[in-house]
Order: sequence, then C-alpha cells, then structure tokens
Amino acid sequence: MAQLATIVLAAGKGTRMKSATPKVLHEVCGQPLIEYVLDVAHHVGSSKTCVVLGHELEKVQKRLSKGILTVEQKKLLGTGDAVKTAGKFFKDFKGNILILCGDTPLLKVETIKALIKRHRKTNAVVTILTAVADNHQGYGRIIRNNFAKVVAIREENDCTEDEKDIREINSGVFCFNGQALFENLKKIKVNSRKGEYYLTDLVALLAEQRLCVETFTTSEPEEAWGVNTREDLAACAFIMRKRILSTLMLDGITIVDPLTTMIDSHVKIGQDSVIKPFTVIDRDVKIGKNCVIGPFAHLRPGTRIDDTVEIGNFAEVSRSTVGTGTFMKHFSFLGDAMVGRHVNIGAGTVTANYDGQEKHRTVIGDGAFIGSDSILVAPVKVGKKAMTGAGSVVTKGKVIPDGKIFVGVPARQVPGRKAL
Ligand code: UD1
Ligand code: CA
Repeated sequence: MAQLATIVLAAGKGTRMKSATPKVLHEVCGQPLIEYVLDVAHHVGSSKTCVVLGHELEKVQKRLSKGILTVEQKKLLGTGDAVKTAGKFFKDFKGNILILCGDTPLLKVETIKALIKRHRKTNAVVTILTAVADNHQGYGRIIRNNFAKVVAIREENDCTEDEKDIREINSGVFCFNGQALFENLKKIKVNSRKGEYYLTDLVALLAEQRLCVETFTTSEPEEAWGVNTREDLAACAFIMRKRILSTLMLDGITIVDPLTTMIDSHVKIGQDSVIKPFTVIDRDVKIGKNCVIGPFAHLRPGTRIDDTVEIGNFAEVSRSTVGTGTFMKHFSFLGDAMVGRHVNIGAGTVTANYDGQEKHRTVIGDGAFIGSDSILVAPVKVGKKAMTGAGSVVTKGKVIPDGKIFVGVPARQVPGRKAL
C-alpha cells in the first residue's frame, strides 16, 4: 500500500482572533487546536508529518512534540504556497499526501480514515473532504458539473450569487497523490483579488486534465469547522465538550448535568464515578472508580484521584494525589499535596503551598483527620492517623508524627492524647 504523509497548514496569522497568541495555540477543552489535528495525522498512520509555520514560528514549534517536521513559510502567500514550501521534505516521496489545516479541531479519525480509503479505492488524484453545511459562509464551495463531477472549488469572494447558494463546502482536508500534487502546484496562478496562491485552485487544474477528482462527504458538518474567530473557538469547544462527555457516559460514568460540566480532552475517569453539576476537570487529571466529584468542584492538571474518593462543594485540587476512600467534601484547597488513603479533609482546609517564590509539598498519611479550617503551610507532613484541631495553623516545615494530635495557632501537640 502506498505510504501516507501529512502536511499541516498553520502559518496563517489568525488575524480575526485578535490575539498575541498564534491561532493554532488557542485551546479547545485544554488542548491547542493544532494538537487535535496532529493527533488525527498520527492515528491515521501518517509516516511523516510536516507543519508549515510562519507567524510566531518559535512559539508554535516549542509546543510541538519531537518527530514533527516544521518548515517556515516566510511570506504568507496562501494555502497553495504553504504546501509548496513543505515540498522540500517530499522530493522522492511516492505515496499519498494528506493536507490538514491547523485550525480544524473537530476532525475525526474515522472520517479521515474513510477519506483515505475512498482515495485509495478510486485511485483518484485527489479526494476532497466536503461537508454539506447550513452555515457555509466563508468556506470554499464545491462546484460540480451536470454529471455531478467536481470541476472546481471556488472561494466565496470569487463566487457568483448562484454559486454562493451551494451548500457543499471544502473542509480544507485533501488526500493527494503526492507526485501529482507538487507537479501541478507549480502551475497555479496567483489569485488577483487576494494576491495569494490558492491550494483550492488545483482542483480545477486537475479536473481540466480529466484526472479523477473524488470527494468524501462527512455526515457531521461541524468536522469541517475551521476556527477563525473567538466565537468559532467557543462553538468548537461546545461540540468537543459534548463529545468528551458522551464518550465518558458510554464508558459508565454518570454526568448528572452535561450542560454545566466541563471536562477537558484525555481526562480519565473510572466506572461508576459520578460527576455532579458545575464541575470543571482540567486536562491531565485521572480519577478512579466509584468517586463522587462536585457539585462545584475544580480538579486541575496533574491531579490523580484514587477509587471511592469524594471531592465536594467548592473544592479545588491541583497537582495532587488523593488516596482511596478519602473525603474532602466542602470548600477546601489541595495544591502539591500527597494525601493517603481514608483521610478526612475537613471543611475549609487549605494547603498553603506557595510562599511567594516557590511551591512546596504537603504530605498527609493514611487515616489522618484534618480538622475544619486547618491551614497547612507547606512543606508540612501529617503522619498516619494523626489529627489537626479545627482552626489550627500547621507552620512551615512541621512534621506531625503518626497518631498525634496538633491544635492551635501555631499548631502544637496535645500532650497525652492519642488520635482516633
Ligand atoms: C480555506 C480554504 C477554503 C476552505 C476553508 C476550510 C483556501 C484558499 N481556502 O479557507 O476553501 O473552505 O479553508 O476551513 O485554501 N495558511 C498557511 N499559509 C498561508 C495561508 C494560510 O499556512 O499563506 C494556513 C492557515 O494557518 C490555516 C489554513 O492554511 O490553518 C487555512 O487558511 P485560512 O486563511 O484559515 O483559509 P480559509 O479562508 O479558512
Ligand atoms: Ca480557516
């Protein structure tokens, strides 16, 4: 089978985002737009992936994983020129080239696999991913002749009034025969209206040569959505959120109210856990089985929650591990903490993890009981089955031995008494 490589177009300024951050680094559900696209390239079996960068090149490069090739498009002369720029990596490449845009986070792996399959089966010179959209404004329209054969893609600004009514749009995704792609790219002319070389102009060029131009139409038009504005970003996030929650629910997790629950991409949650309303779970969080999270909880990156844990109202956990059977039911903050099994974190407990310069760790042993309104000024260690009294302030560097009770401000050991 012919090899597959991918070129991701991501050099554009993203002017309409009105941002100092390059467009493809804006995030949807905790992940930059471009990472979604690169994930797709990876999962469809792309053997070589090249990202075309331009605007704020270094910033984007820094965020890409190793093994991804990058090339600089020095002048933003359009999508056709961008692909041409990547040509240096494909001099002797004989396979198919998938073209993706860095700003389309909703593309699905299955769809791109189906597109490639259609391309291989029909032996087409190019297969275009199209969508039939209600809101087609701003997209290139697919122009077909009387025999339904594609003859061109027309950008909106170049469309006649009739053509503007065409609802079949170009998603910006193509699977090309690599050699035909680069041979014909040399022939496209600059679009006089915009002063850019349009990749989409290749389609008419290939159709005129009576080469086979195929299409694959996605049944979910939002897959084609490209993020151009902050409104588009929010619209994509809305769809992505629904997808994430739906996958979790199908995996046996209860989401009490999907409308008020925000869970980032790649969050892992175990079966029979319940996520209550108004809960926000950021990327890089793992939650075990049979947990209850929320309402109004915020779990931040680097958090690992074991099985049968309850994190309740107005509780925030960041870069912390929480052991099996631990309860933290009301308005508390854990940051950089390692909490053991069967610990009770009383209402209002705060780990003061930041001293203004550095962050420090708090370690709480198995079976400890942290009294309401305790402040643990990190670094602090609370031993196994130890207790802190309500309102105590455990000062920096303190180690509470196993089974001991500490109370007061600053917290001191209560002599002669043993904890639970
Ligand atoms: C493009 C397509 C349009 C399609 C739409 C789908 C063209 C001419 N038009 O329009 O048919 O419906 O995508 O979203 O191809 N880029 C570069 N270098 C450049 C210009 C753009 O790398 O010189 C990159 C951008 O970063 C972006 C992608 O190419 O990721 C698409 O460019 P954009 O300006 O967003 O094109 P659209 O107007 O959306
Ligand atoms: Ca776009």
